[in-house]
Amino acid sequence: MRRPIAGTGWKMNNGAADAYRYAAALKQALTGVDVSGIDVFVLPPFTSLHAAGAAFANSPVAIGGQNMHWDDAGGWTGEISAPMLVEAGCRYVELAHSERLQHFGETYPLVRRKVDQAMAAGLVPIICLGETAAEKAAGRADEVLSEQVLTSLAGQPIERTADVVLAYEPRWAIGAADAASPEYVAARHAALRRILREHRGENAALETRILYGGSVTPENGKELIEIEDVDGLFVGRAAWKAEGFARIVKIVSEAASRKKSF
Ligand code: PGA
Repeated sequence: MRRPIAGTGWKMNNGAADAYRYAAALKQALTGVDVSGIDVFVLPPFTSLHAAGAAFANSPVAIGGQNMHWDDAGGWTGEISAPMLVEAGCRYVELAHSERLQHFGETYPLVRRKVDQAMAAGLVPIICLGETAAEKAAGRADEVLSEQVLTSLAGQPIERTADVVLAYEPRWAIGAADAASPEYVAARHAALRRILREHRGENAALETRILYGGSVTPENGKELIEIEDVDGLFVGRAAWKAEGFARIVKIVSEAASRKKSF
């Protein structure tokens, strides 16, 4: 039903030469591992996309951008458009990462416009969602998630809902010492599925993949991927080296053959 995903965002790490080394090491580390039941993605910095595209060609690893602009082209210095990502070989684009929200003034109404553009260009948007520590403390996590996801999807027809990937990434758990607890993750993912069911229908709730991200490691990843509504792991630091990501990919592949929801 929901094909599981192992993904990593490199953030501002791994230049073009590193991308080639990473791809070679990942292929080696995954020799003999059956990844045919899952989707795997790597999100390099823009200047590494071409190298990563070449290095991962003819492999199960797809690439994506870490951000994009809401317009196709024009006077937007320093920006990258959806058609440019497609031309660079991207299948995915990450939107609304908490570092974009926190440091670059990104907002969900803007994310909504980016989702429109990404979908029109044929990219799969990976839409990050997550509450801040203060929102968590105020007991507002589900309310915040609801507003974020419904704003992001507002322009999309109901039947296209499952064409996006959602990533629950509590903002207080990104780059932190620990991931959110499995109980907490289970409750938020269940809430997201309820919100999808209520506002976007049963099919959207059943078919839309929801990843967990935020201080995932090969150690805690095993437990997190077993949670019913967690359809994949989205990893930063622990996957910036190929060996770390290979361990995550193995964990997700093994879970894929066990979990009923997959
Ligand atoms: P982290 O990053 O795994 O290093 O916490 C996760 C993310 O930013 O998506």
